[in-house]
Amino acid sequence: MITVQAASDARSACAGWRAGGDTLAFVPTMGALHEGHLSLVRIAHDRCDRVAVSIFVNPRQFGPQEDYLRYPRPLEKDSALLSDAGVDLLFAPPPGEIFPEGFATTISVAGPSQGLCGPFRPGHFDGVSTVCCVLFGIIGPHVSVFGMKDAQQLAVIRRMVRDLGIRMEVVGAPIVREADGLARSSRNRYLNSAERIEATAIHAGLLEAGSLAASGCSDADRLVGAVRTAVSAKPLLRLQYAELVDPDAMTPMPVLDRRGLLATAVFAGTTRLIDNALLEPGRGCVEV
Ligand code: PAF
Repeated sequence: MITVQAASDARSACAGWRAGGDTLAFVPTMGALHEGHLSLVRIAHDRCDRVAVSIFVNPRQFGPQEDYLRYPRPLEKDSALLSDAGVDLLFAPPPGEIFPEGFATTISVAGPSQGLCGPFRPGHFDGVSTVCCVLFGIIGPHVSVFGMKDAQQLAVIRRMVRDLGIRMEVVGAPIVREADGLARSSRNRYLNSAERIEATAIHAGLLEAGSLAASGCSDADRLVGAVRTAVSAKPLLRLQYAELVDPDAMTPMPVLDRRGLLATAVFAGTTRLIDNALLEPGRGCVEV
């Protein structure tokens, strides 16, 4: 695995592979890697000859009260995991390499960024789309892989790629869960043991909504209610939102009359967790 910090080095390694006829898949990350990220790398390997991964804790996607400074940065461990996973290039730039002095551009993807997390994290998706656009420009991948746990992020990136005519396929990867159902996240390490146990209620609520949908319930309030009920039964959890939305547009769906995304954000203590399930009428939870 080649590891580079400079954008020019990443650019020339990737350009060399493309010029040699290799296809290139890209997995952007903020590090603190876990099995969820490694599943993205495996999908990237299945899709392309070469795999590039970036580790960049993007300051532009954190709000002033969020965890930018305390976000975990175990670079050596991450690098070993990626090398073992057969990654060809690790691009781990310092902030000034991505956002040099005078950087003046913000990409704002209006539609899918406006609901769900949008109002609670002002500027977050602008930060995500801007950094991804810069990274896509450096790496020039044929395929980029994003996890479905951040379903809104995936929808925003898909919209940006379509709107800006970026010649690249965006692939969504299934959520990877712990044995007890908690979605894998770099932020799970912030949970104390009591919060960790209660956090399993989030997935339990989504599964309950899936069972309701499988048995014919299509009313969004009732489906969302299953998540509300599961979360509100746990004293250490606090629901920020739960909503049934269109999986591409991220707009509310009052009725599950086609595939819908039931998405939720929940605080476990001070740690904000997101999770979701794709529901189909009469079938319940479905995988991508
Ligand atoms: O999902 C993440 O880890 C980040 O939002 C991403 C896509 C790497 C952009 O910083």
